[in-house]
Amino acid sequence: MASTEPRAASAEVVVEKLAELTPDALAMLGELVVHSGWNQTAQDWGVFCSCGTIYVVRDEQGRIAASGAVLPMGESRPGALASLTGRGVAWISMILVRPDRRGRGLARRVFEQCIRDIHDHGRIAMLDATPQGEALYLQFGFEPLWRLTRWRREARPASGPALPLAKPDLDTLAELDQEALGFARKRVLGELLGRPDSRYVRHALGFAIVRAGRLADHIGPLVATDEPTAVAVMQEAAAALSGPVLIDVPDDRPLLRQALVDAGFAPQRGFARMALATAEQRIPRGQTHFIHAIAGPEFA
Ligand SMILES: CC(C)(COP(=O)(O)OP(=O)(O)OC[C@H]1O[C@@H](n2cnc3c(N)ncnc32)[C@H](O)[C@@H]1OP(=O)(O)O)[C@@H](O)C(=O)NCCC(=O)NCCS
Repeated sequence: MASTEPRAASAEVVVEKLAELTPDALAMLGELVVHSGWNQTAQDWGVFCSCGTIYVVRDEQGRIAASGAVLPMGESRPGALASLTGRGVAWISMILVRPDRRGRGLARRVFEQCIRDIHDHGRIAMLDATPQGEALYLQFGFEPLWRLTRWRREARPASGPALPLAKPDLDTLAELDQEALGFARKRVLGELLGRPDSRYVRHALGFAIVRAGRLADHIGPLVATDEPTAVAVMQEAAAALSGPVLIDVPDDRPLLRQALVDAGFAPQRGFARMALATAEQRIPRGQTHFIHAIAGPEFA
């Protein structure tokens, strides 16, 4: 894989593994999210802490100036390539730098630490990049796999019935989800579904989870075996919501894109799904055409 050797960052930058998600740390991480206009909540940081590792860089006052998270996913699908992808994927998330500390190599240092962590565990690094992040990740040899667009709808009165709060059978959803991704994500799905205010839509051939974000409700993942089912699931979810809504949809979904426009959504920005595998590893591809909305750039 072609890669430009990344420029070394200044030696005095210390990347620290966050030992504990104290209220103070959570407040500072929350500030990073606010500065970037992102949608993550304290519960999301809780997932990175309980299921993965949060790395931070602090300023001279001990305040968190940069963050990154590594979220290991489960095993890859068994099969002919299991020996190559069996240790699975780890997701890199939450690469955030406080605006007053940008342009000093902090993102690069945190990112290097995330990659080292993933390589030490024999996993394949994957992520969903903003255009700003993509410029950095390309320098490390990350390969764009496919592109997606964030769609947003502003608040409006709900036009359909409320969605159930009761929890569906996690095993069934996790199985379809694993088929789509090519690796397991049951623990993350369980975390998203287990929140008291999370809702879901379940059809015979697809499902979606709706969770509350800092600024907007987020529909995703939306996994379905065909696009018309995905459209029906999205419409049911969107009709039930009255606040602002976000959904991140692969670009190659013409029916769903049209349905989003019809439902009042507008494109906001693009992301690139990217992966970095060694020569001995194979990126698990899954059934990508089953993925109609990702869980979010932070959760795959
Ligand atoms: C993207 C972000 C993390 C970069 O942080 P940073 O500490 O300023 O980045 P660094 O100083 O380590 O720069 C590393 C590389 O990132 C790229 N980069 C950084 N900011 C960029 C920008 N605004 N536009 C394009 N590329 C940028 C450059 O390639 C840079 O390499 P260079 O120094 O050789 O030019 C920061 O701007 C940020 O928090 N943005 C908002 C959140 C976000 O988009 N995060 C990425 C999620 S995928």
